Amino acid sequence: MSTMVTPLAEEQSGTWDNLLERLNRQSVLKHFDAYVDVPWDEPGFSIDPADSRWQLEPDHPLGATDWYRSQPAEVRSRIGLHMIATQMKLGLQFESVLKRGLLEWAADLPNGSAAFRYAYHEVIEEAQHSLMFQEFVNRAGFDTPGLSRFLRFQARQVIRLGRKFPELFFVFVLGGEDPIDHVQRVALRNGDSHPLLLRIMRIHVTEEARHLSFARQYLRDRVPQLSWLRRQRLAINAPLILGVMAQTMMQPSPQMVKEYGIPRSVIRAAYKDNPRYRQQVLDSLRKVRELLIELRLMTPMTRPIWRRLRIWEAGATETAA
Ligand SMILES: [Fe+2]
Ligand SMILES: [Fe+2]
Repeated sequence: MSTMVTPLAEEQSGTWDNLLERLNRQSVLKHFDAYVDVPWDEPGFSIDPADSRWQLEPDHPLGATDWYRSQPAEVRSRIGLHMIATQMKLGLQFESVLKRGLLEWAADLPNGSAAFRYAYHEVIEEAQHSLMFQEFVNRAGFDTPGLSRFLRFQARQVIRLGRKFPELFFVFVLGGEDPIDHVQRVALRNGDSHPLLLRIMRIHVTEEARHLSFARQYLRDRVPQLSWLRRQRLAINAPLILGVMAQTMMQPSPQMVKEYGIPRSVIRAAYKDNPRYRQQVLDSLRKVRELLIELRLMTPMTRPIWRRLRIWEAGATETAA
């Protein structure tokens, strides 16, 4: 999209105040409404679970398995659509935590703050995204639960970070937004998906560019000012958050494994033992990993955590604490 704003362009353009002014202006000039800008009921936009355009790509970790390829065409389509609906449900649950954390963060900002206004723009945009995602889930017709009960509990703890430890909260934000953005940009480049999905992704990618710029610049501004102890807490918790988030978003839910009878050995071969999948996870986390390296948050002490979670990339340079 010609109006798309890349995070890089935003970040290079000046100070925190300049960035906020620009983002606030863009949020007014270019925003979307879930029920105005998505033609849900137009011909060609309806969802048919048997539509072959939902099928997983041959380079998808599960799509590449013999098990998947040996399923009847209708089941392959259904699994692909179910996978998208699951990701959308997880996406809107992530956005729910994000919105509540942002409101916690904004609650302490003073009158006249441009950051307060921006935080509210972002909350409104995320609410529109969640309406879009939920409408898609409803129309896809799968009763996807999204996060497990345990992760839902964990997610609620993150909300408090918005006030108590905003730097860690914004690492969580990037841990959700960056991988989704990466996956959607790759899908848009391929460009042959269902028009409804393409429309939703285009809207999302356009607005997420602002959110990513904001979170990155916030961390660039704030992390250097943190105390030694807080930096250590951030350095240790960042890979834990990123590791859990990346794996949850990209794998089929336990509900799907059960419903389609996906053998455990297939899941292991598709995800755990699959170098191509591992590379996809690394690619999706590349931008946030590079930012953390730049902020000197990847240290010799935390390297084993990155390795253990399999989100360490050979060639990444850690820095002294
Ligand atoms: Fe979003
Ligand atoms: Fe966002």
